[in-house]
Amino acid sequence: MSFETLATNRYSCRSFSTQRVDPALVDKLLEVALLAPTAANRWPLHLYVIESDQAIEGVRNATRYHFDATLFILVCYDQEKVWERRVDGENSGIDDASIVGCHLMFEVEELGLGTTWVKHFDPEALREGLSLPDHLVPVCLFPIGYKAPDAEPAKSHTIRPRVEDVVSKI
Ligand SMILES: Cc1cc2nc3c(=O)[nH]c(=O)nc-3n(C[C@H](O)[C@H](O)[C@H](O)COP(=O)(O)O)c2cc1C
Repeated sequence: MSFETLATNRYSCRSFSTQRVDPALVDKLLEVALLAPTAANRWPLHLYVIESDQAIEGVRNATRYHFDATLFILVCYDQEKVWERRVDGENSGIDDASIVGCHLMFEVEELGLGTTWVKHFDPEALREGLSLPDHLVPVCLFPIGYKAPDAEPAKSHTIRPRVEDVVSKI
Protein backbone atom coordinates (compact mmCIF):
# COMPACT_ATOMS: atom_id res chain seq x y z
CA MET A 1 0.00 0.00 0.00
CA SER A 2 1.43 3.41 -0.89
CA PHE A 3 1.76 5.98 1.86
CA GLU A 4 -0.81 8.13 0.06
CA THR A 5 -3.34 5.27 0.13
CA LEU A 6 -2.57 4.59 3.78
CA ALA A 7 -3.03 8.25 4.71
CA THR A 8 -6.25 8.43 2.71
CA ASN A 9 -7.74 5.27 4.23
CA ARG A 10 -6.79 5.94 7.85
CA TYR A 11 -9.40 7.28 10.21
CA SER A 12 -9.73 7.48 13.99
CA CYS A 13 -11.23 4.16 15.00
CA ARG A 14 -13.24 4.32 18.22
CA SER A 15 -14.90 0.91 18.21
CA PHE A 16 -12.95 -2.32 18.59
CA SER A 17 -13.77 -6.02 18.55
CA THR A 18 -13.07 -7.91 21.78
CA GLN A 19 -10.49 -10.11 20.02
CA ARG A 20 -7.02 -9.73 21.50
CA VAL A 21 -4.41 -8.35 19.11
CA ASP A 22 -1.99 -10.99 17.81
CA PRO A 23 1.32 -10.51 19.74
CA ALA A 24 3.23 -10.78 16.44
CA LEU A 25 1.45 -7.62 15.26
CA VAL A 26 2.43 -5.82 18.47
CA ASP A 27 6.06 -6.77 17.82
CA LYS A 28 5.75 -5.40 14.28
CA LEU A 29 4.24 -2.15 15.57
CA LEU A 30 7.12 -1.68 17.99
CA GLU A 31 9.68 -2.47 15.30
CA VAL A 32 8.26 0.26 13.05
CA ALA A 33 7.87 2.72 15.95
CA LEU A 34 11.56 2.38 16.72
CA LEU A 35 12.46 3.46 13.17
CA ALA A 36 11.27 6.99 13.97
CA PRO A 37 13.79 9.81 13.78
CA THR A 38 14.32 12.04 16.82
CA ALA A 39 16.22 15.25 17.50
CA ALA A 40 19.98 14.60 17.57
CA ASN A 41 19.04 10.90 17.32
CA ARG A 42 18.71 10.73 21.10
CA TRP A 43 15.57 8.60 21.12
CA PRO A 44 14.57 10.06 24.47
CA LEU A 45 11.37 8.03 24.54
CA HIS A 46 9.82 5.20 26.47
CA LEU A 47 6.87 3.19 25.24
CA TYR A 48 4.46 1.21 27.39
CA VAL A 49 2.52 -1.70 25.93
CA ILE A 50 -0.50 -1.81 28.18
CA GLU A 51 -2.29 -5.14 28.18
CA SER A 52 -2.68 -6.36 31.76
CA ASP A 53 -6.04 -5.88 33.48
CA GLN A 54 -4.38 -3.75 36.17
CA ALA A 55 -2.66 -1.41 33.70
CA ILE A 56 -5.78 -1.13 31.55
CA GLU A 57 -7.68 -0.12 34.69
CA GLY A 58 -5.05 2.60 35.18
CA VAL A 59 -5.77 3.90 31.68
CA ARG A 60 -9.53 3.75 32.15
CA ASN A 61 -9.20 5.83 35.32
CA ALA A 62 -7.22 8.48 33.44
CA THR A 63 -9.36 8.97 30.32
CA ARG A 64 -12.81 8.33 29.02
CA TYR A 65 -11.28 7.90 25.55
CA HIS A 66 -10.31 4.27 26.09
CA PHE A 67 -12.98 2.85 23.77
CA ASP A 68 -12.90 -0.42 25.74
CA ALA A 69 -9.71 -1.43 23.97
CA THR A 70 -7.76 -4.39 25.31
CA LEU A 71 -4.40 -3.03 24.15
CA PHE A 72 -2.86 0.44 24.46
CA ILE A 73 0.51 1.89 23.59
CA LEU A 74 1.59 4.96 25.51
CA VAL A 75 4.44 7.12 24.20
CA CYS A 76 6.38 9.10 26.81
CA TYR A 77 9.45 11.27 26.54
CA ASP A 78 12.25 11.25 29.05
CA GLN A 79 13.09 14.66 30.52
CA GLU A 80 16.58 13.43 31.39
CA LYS A 81 17.45 12.41 27.82
CA VAL A 82 15.56 14.88 25.64
CA TRP A 83 17.38 17.30 23.33
CA GLU A 84 17.20 20.97 24.39
CA ARG A 85 17.55 24.04 22.17
CA ARG A 86 20.20 26.18 23.80
CA VAL A 87 18.83 29.52 22.57
CA ASP A 88 15.53 29.27 24.48
CA GLY A 89 15.59 25.98 26.44
CA GLU A 90 12.72 24.45 24.39
CA ASN A 91 12.98 20.70 24.18
CA SER A 92 11.97 18.25 21.45
CA GLY A 93 10.05 15.82 23.67
CA ILE A 94 6.60 16.39 22.18
CA ASP A 95 8.03 16.44 18.65
CA ASP A 96 9.97 13.20 19.14
CA ALA A 97 7.04 11.42 20.79
CA SER A 98 4.67 12.62 18.07
CA ILE A 99 6.82 11.24 15.26
CA VAL A 100 6.79 7.87 17.01
CA GLY A 101 3.03 8.34 17.39
CA CYS A 102 2.67 8.88 13.64
CA HIS A 103 4.69 5.75 12.90
CA LEU A 104 2.43 3.79 15.24
CA MET A 105 -0.77 5.30 13.87
CA PHE A 106 0.04 4.47 10.25
CA GLU A 107 1.54 1.05 10.96
CA VAL A 108 -1.63 0.15 12.88
CA GLU A 109 -3.56 0.93 9.70
CA GLU A 110 -1.15 -1.00 7.51
CA LEU A 111 -1.55 -4.07 9.73
CA GLY A 112 -5.34 -3.93 9.37
CA LEU A 113 -5.93 -2.72 12.91
CA GLY A 114 -7.49 0.51 14.17
CA THR A 115 -6.53 3.23 16.62
CA THR A 116 -7.16 6.82 17.67
CA TRP A 117 -4.57 9.28 18.85
CA VAL A 118 -5.58 10.20 22.42
CA LYS A 119 -4.28 13.26 24.22
CA HIS A 120 -7.35 13.83 26.36
CA PHE A 121 -6.16 12.09 29.50
CA ASP A 122 -5.32 13.24 33.00
CA PRO A 123 -1.51 12.96 33.08
CA GLU A 124 -1.35 12.69 36.86
CA ALA A 125 -3.99 9.95 36.94
CA LEU A 126 -2.09 8.11 34.20
CA ARG A 127 1.18 8.56 36.06
CA GLU A 128 -0.37 7.08 39.19
CA GLY A 129 -2.30 4.31 37.45
CA LEU A 130 0.73 3.08 35.51
CA SER A 131 3.37 3.92 38.14
CA LEU A 132 5.29 6.08 35.66
CA PRO A 133 8.61 7.40 36.95
CA ASP A 134 8.80 11.19 37.43
CA HIS A 135 11.23 11.77 34.55
CA LEU A 136 8.78 10.40 31.95
CA VAL A 137 6.18 12.69 30.38
CA PRO A 138 3.22 10.90 28.78
CA VAL A 139 2.42 12.44 25.39
CA CYS A 140 0.16 10.23 23.32
CA LEU A 141 -1.93 7.18 24.03
CA PHE A 142 -3.14 4.72 21.40
CA PRO A 143 -6.03 2.34 22.08
CA ILE A 144 -5.44 -0.41 19.52
CA GLY A 145 -7.53 -3.30 18.28
CA TYR A 146 -9.26 -4.98 15.39
CA LYS A 147 -11.91 -2.64 14.05
CA ALA A 148 -15.40 -3.63 15.19
CA PRO A 149 -17.91 -4.39 12.42
CA ASP A 150 -19.69 -1.12 13.27
CA ALA A 151 -16.49 0.99 13.26
CA GLU A 152 -16.66 3.96 10.95
CA PRO A 153 -15.05 7.36 10.59
CA ALA A 154 -16.61 10.24 12.52
CA LYS A 155 -18.65 12.63 10.37
CA SER A 156 -15.93 15.25 10.82
CA HIS A 157 -13.27 12.90 9.41
CA THR A 158 -13.54 14.31 5.89
CA ILE A 159 -13.50 17.96 6.98
CA ARG A 160 -10.12 19.36 6.07
CA PRO A 161 -9.00 22.88 5.14
CA ARG A 162 -8.44 24.02 1.59
CA VAL A 163 -4.85 24.59 0.57
CA GLU A 164 -5.45 28.32 0.11
CA ASP A 165 -6.80 28.62 3.68
CA VAL A 166 -3.76 27.25 5.44
CA VAL A 167 -0.82 27.59 3.08
CA SER A 168 1.09 30.74 2.27
CA LYS A 169 3.53 30.72 -0.59
CA ILE A 170 5.99 33.50 0.15
C1 LIG B 1 -2.87 15.45 18.91
C2 LIG B 1 -4.19 14.74 18.79
C3 LIG B 1 -4.93 14.49 19.93
C4 LIG B 1 -6.15 13.80 19.86
N1 LIG B 1 -6.81 13.46 21.01
C5 LIG B 1 -7.97 12.76 20.92
C6 LIG B 1 -8.64 12.34 22.11
O1 LIG B 1 -8.18 12.56 23.22
N2 LIG B 1 -9.81 11.67 21.98
C7 LIG B 1 -10.33 11.34 20.73
O2 LIG B 1 -11.38 10.72 20.68
N3 LIG B 1 -9.69 11.72 19.61
C8 LIG B 1 -8.53 12.40 19.66
N4 LIG B 1 -7.87 12.74 18.52
C9 LIG B 1 -8.40 12.34 17.22
C10 LIG B 1 -8.90 13.55 16.43
O3 LIG B 1 -10.12 14.00 16.99
C11 LIG B 1 -9.07 13.13 14.95
O4 LIG B 1 -7.82 12.75 14.44
C12 LIG B 1 -9.65 14.25 14.13
O5 LIG B 1 -10.97 14.53 14.53
C13 LIG B 1 -9.69 13.88 12.64
O6 LIG B 1 -10.40 12.68 12.45
P1 LIG B 1 -9.72 11.44 11.74
O7 LIG B 1 -8.55 11.01 12.57
O8 LIG B 1 -10.77 10.37 11.67
O9 LIG B 1 -9.27 11.89 10.38
C14 LIG B 1 -6.64 13.40 18.58
C15 LIG B 1 -5.88 13.64 17.43
C16 LIG B 1 -4.67 14.29 17.54
C17 LIG B 1 -3.85 14.52 16.28
